[in-house]
Amino acid sequence: MANISFLGAGNMAAAMIDGLIARDPAATSSLACLGGGGATAPALAARTGIRLATTLADLTGSADVVVIAFKPQHLASADPTLAELTAGKLVVSVLAGKRLSTLARVFPRARNVVRTMPNTPAAIGAGITPYCAAQPLSAADRALVEQLLGACGQHLELTEDQMDSATAVSGSGPAFVFEFAAALRDAGVAAELPPEVASRLTIATLLGAAKLLAQREVDPEVLRNQVTSPNGTTFAGLRRLEAGDFRALIRDTVAAARARAAELSRDT
Ligand SMILES: NC(=O)c1ccc[n+]([C@@H]2O[C@H](COP(=O)([O-])OP(=O)(O)OC[C@H]3O[C@@H](n4cnc5c(N)ncnc54)[C@H](OP(=O)(O)O)[C@@H]3O)[C@@H](O)[C@H]2O)c1
Repeated sequence: MANISFLGAGNMAAAMIDGLIARDPAATSSLACLGGGGATAPALAARTGIRLATTLADLTGSADVVVIAFKPQHLASADPTLAELTAGKLVVSVLAGKRLSTLARVFPRARNVVRTMPNTPAAIGAGITPYCAAQPLSAADRALVEQLLGACGQHLELTEDQMDSATAVSGSGPAFVFEFAAALRDAGVAAELPPEVASRLTIATLLGAAKLLAQREVDPEVLRNQVTSPNGTTFAGLRRLEAGDFRALIRDTVAAARARAAELSRDT
């Protein structure tokens, strides 16, 4: 496997590293990390067995791919030597809202720069990561990107002008689903179910419905219609959702998240 080095060793780096090692335990010897001088990088290296780099030069020296996985606000104060240290390397950023033009200023000599937007289910290998590249990816670099992102679940190449919308749908999306889950649980409690029963029914229903949707490969409306008999219980509930303009609310929710993503990524 190519040597992959992680600058930043927090939750996102850990999710990727765990996924890479789970897929191929031999990958351990090809991975390295470096943090900001705190506890995360030594802890991650100790837990996973990957190499703990001592300096930026040590981290990048033998790396073919450098993953930038610190917080977005750390980019502005990134060590200027990174420009030279990443020369000829593939740089993959997971920094939310950092545009390719900004990344290219910090890593001007990289052989290519890739902007990604993972989501939190990446932590259990069930994420989806939209990405875009500064230059068309060579076949070899595409394979590297797919190997890296595949460790967190699915991946999807987009154009950069689609990234704010993707951020709203799949980046923020899990939080919208969690909010829906909380609402369904609370509605169950309001309908006089014990909280633990409402909670269990909610989780199993979301999981089962998502799996069914993924496996059947049909539009959600088809599955919805299959459980909706005229004048039945589901019909009664769906009519209430429609009266409350549920779809308009979700459309506005995604539009608000997209607008904020655009605002945050402007000139950064
Ligand atoms: N978590 C998610 O679900 C998610 C989803 C999408 C995108 N992202 C992106 O992933 C990135 C990392 O998020 P996270 O949740 O993994 O953050 P995190 O858990 O807080 O980890 C941040 C890491 O950055 C390190 N760091 C701090 N300053 C540094 C510096 N100057 N140089 C190198 N490393 C430094 C920290 O090391 P110390 O312990 O030494 O301070 C720590 O290892 C963010 O840019 C975020 O936008 C995360």
